[in-house]
Amino acid sequence: MKTQKDRNQNSTKMKTSDPSDRPGARPRAASGTLNRRDFLAGTCALGMAGILSQPGAAAAGPDRRQPPESDDGFTFVHMTDMHVTPKRWGDKGYRKCIESVAQRRPKPAFALMGGDLAFDGLYTPKAHFEEQIRLYKEISDGLGIPYYNCMGNHDALGWSSRRKVSVDDPDLGKKMIMDRLEWDKSYYSFDYGGWHFAVLDSIFPIQTAADGPGYEPRIGPEQLEWLAYDLGRAGDRPKVLVTHIAAFCNIGQINGDPNRKAMDGGMVLWDTRELRAVLERHQVKALLQGHSHRIEEYRFNGVRYLTSPAVSGAWWAGSWVGSAPGYTVFCCKGDELTWTHATFPWEPHLEPDDDLERRKIAEQAAAASEQARLRDRERAGRRG
Ligand SMILES: [Fe+2]
Repeated sequence: MKTQKDRNQNSTKMKTSDPSDRPGARPRAASGTLNRRDFLAGTCALGMAGILSQPGAAAAGPDRRQPPESDDGFTFVHMTDMHVTPKRWGDKGYRKCIESVAQRRPKPAFALMGGDLAFDGLYTPKAHFEEQIRLYKEISDGLGIPYYNCMGNHDALGWSSRRKVSVDDPDLGKKMIMDRLEWDKSYYSFDYGGWHFAVLDSIFPIQTAADGPGYEPRIGPEQLEWLAYDLGRAGDRPKVLVTHIAAFCNIGQINGDPNRKAMDGGMVLWDTRELRAVLERHQVKALLQGHSHRIEEYRFNGVRYLTSPAVSGAWWAGSWVGSAPGYTVFCCKGDELTWTHATFPWEPHLEPDDDLERRKIAEQAAAASEQARLRDRERAGRRG
């Protein structure tokens, strides 16, 4: 635990009846002391460790095992965009992250892996992708708790016009990673501790005359219908969902670029409206998102849309737009969901030709130093 450093201590109570959830109201745990202290004190997960019977199992399908009733709640982690690769020592970085999660006390009940598990299947040669998947599995198995895989766009082999494989390759698309990870269905659900969890597949296959096989960022009608009935079956249980591509993500405002429309490209789901309707009528607590590699949090009509930092940060080249490599720890207690972000000890190790990344790291350092200089000047009341 000494190497853990929680940051962005913005734990927020999720109970919708709580007056602190009114628009503009201050979150009850705004000081951030709730999560850190409660985690250390074990108030959220005592009694849960050891209940799951297969530590380290790559649990990719439905899991109906239930822990005994308890008022203590449990924790789980959301890790996304690990982009595992030997390049930039990404595999060593991922090991550091896994060690960090494995050392957490109380022990998380499971991990939700948010997609882009391997560095890339879209643009890199098949043999490299295969090795990245192998590394992902080998290192993830060190968690010592079950983990649940979610499909990322970079987890599909060759679904891009820049593919390095033939369109006739039998492993094209999601097949390769699903085979290697013994992953039966790309979307599924499970229950734990009285809560319901569903893992979605946001990589919708398409075929175009110009570019051949590819994907669109969509859930699609068939999966949406499955989800609606899956959530219906879950009844009053609190519900948390996972997607790789976000329902809400706003790069335009973050970057101050009015020409960047959220729905123009591949950064958000194209069927957010349809998904949102399902989530709202089943009172889903939160949709956990990835893909943008930056922490974002939205709330709309009672549903939280929470994007975790990327485990790989800027694809193992440091932080990405202020989000350092890390993951999110969630606590489920009663019907309340709280969370905090965590980092792990890691310094980027760039490749000799990573000139662009070196420049970005230098720019980030210069921007941070300028922010500190301005803050000091403004606090001192100096102008000019
Ligand atoms: Fe990613």
